[in-house]
Amino acid sequence: MDLYQAPRGTNDILPEDQSYWRYIEAKAAQIAMLYGYRRIDIPTFEDTRLFTRVGEGTDVVQKEMYSFDDRGGNSLTLRPEGTVSVCRAYLEHGLQNQPQPVKLFYFITTFRYDRPQAGRYREFHQFGCEAIGDMDPALDTEIIDLLWQFYCSLGIGQLHLKINSIGCQNCRPAYLVKLKEYYTDCLSDVCADCKIRLETNTLRLLDCKNERCRLIAVGAPKSYEQLCPECTVHFEQLKKYLTLLGLPYETDHCLVRGLDYYTRTVFEIQPELEGAQSTLVGGGRYDGLIEELGGKPTPGIGFGAGIERIILNLKRQGLPIPPIPNPLLFVAFLGDEAKEAAIKLSADLRKQEISLVMAPGNKSLKAQLRQANTLGVRYAAILGDEEIKTGTVQLRDMQTSLQENLPQGQLLEKLRKF
Ligand code: HAM
Repeated sequence: MDLYQAPRGTNDILPEDQSYWRYIEAKAAQIAMLYGYRRIDIPTFEDTRLFTRVGEGTDVVQKEMYSFDDRGGNSLTLRPEGTVSVCRAYLEHGLQNQPQPVKLFYFITTFRYDRPQAGRYREFHQFGCEAIGDMDPALDTEIIDLLWQFYCSLGIGQLHLKINSIGCQNCRPAYLVKLKEYYTDCLSDVCADCKIRLETNTLRLLDCKNERCRLIAVGAPKSYEQLCPECTVHFEQLKKYLTLLGLPYETDHCLVRGLDYYTRTVFEIQPELEGAQSTLVGGGRYDGLIEELGGKPTPGIGFGAGIERIILNLKRQGLPIPPIPNPLLFVAFLGDEAKEAAIKLSADLRKQEISLVMAPGNKSLKAQLRQANTLGVRYAAILGDEEIKTGTVQLRDMQTSLQENLPQGQLLEKLRKF
């Protein structure tokens, strides 16, 4: 019989890799809290209309969603991202009545029916932050700084921070007209997808990955040169504050992002090695999203950072990760009576928070100690007939192979020292 395999584009995270995940999540939570963000958890699936309402013109919503009808006939969708759900929760739970901005962070699994390759999966994980309820470009700066410090704290270097402003509902329409004119003039030179984009999602013409289209995009009108006075001030202040903090940004007029809800500031961080699926994090302002979801006009800004891509970079750069500690002790035994004593001793020590593994089955002492070695424990406690009789235990230091006979009552004290 053929063995089952995990679905295409999904991954098992084996114990050997858990140290990366736990380390990154701990760092992320620590830095988010340092900047005043509080954790939120959101459901894995939502009413499909929540996503279609705000992302109708995007690939993520049109082509990549895992949607299904439940047994009650409701259309549900495995979340393709976190921002919309967080905004839904903000409105549903009246968070607009708390002091603004409400700053939230999350760790989520995310689902997109995409073409899998290294760094691009159908189920992937994001660390995200959302700050809802304030317009100040200082908040844009703060969230970018948070990200920069996060990657620095992991040791990931040689990063490129790209920013752009794609304007607001007042200035973007005029910009789109200009962009359309530019692309209409060179329509015969762009790829087939871009010919469609010209009608469906003009802004996305700018981030086509086709080599020829990229060259054409370089000469396209720049959104940040067509902003209304309010957006201009916002963008100038952002750049001023980023400079103040010494954050080395590049302005990139081709950075437009793949989701529809963005306004004004958009940003991405990429590692030195370029490529479509190398972007470590993307984010930006979404000042119209809460209103689109039925709330009163409320600005917001956030980011989603792909965790798999962080791990790829940590591994590529050979950066050290603190290992998850192995159990301290292995409890070995010889004979039935010693087995009962080992079961009891193991239970007692665990109650005292000594992490341990008890030898399973009835293997030879040699096989048990071999297993202790493989597990990387520091000590093995060995119980046999003699130890039962004398109320003692043999404690073997697995690093030095030195062994001492101890009264069982002293074992805990000895182990506590480690
Ligand atoms: P996004 O750019 O679609 O934005 O995704 C954010 C990050 O998720 C990417 O930069 C990348 O690291 C990771 N990512 C995206 N697709 C995949 C994939 N198929 N496989 C592995 N990793 C992937 C958002 O999701 C927005 N919600 C971000 C945001 C939050 N904007 C404002 N607030």
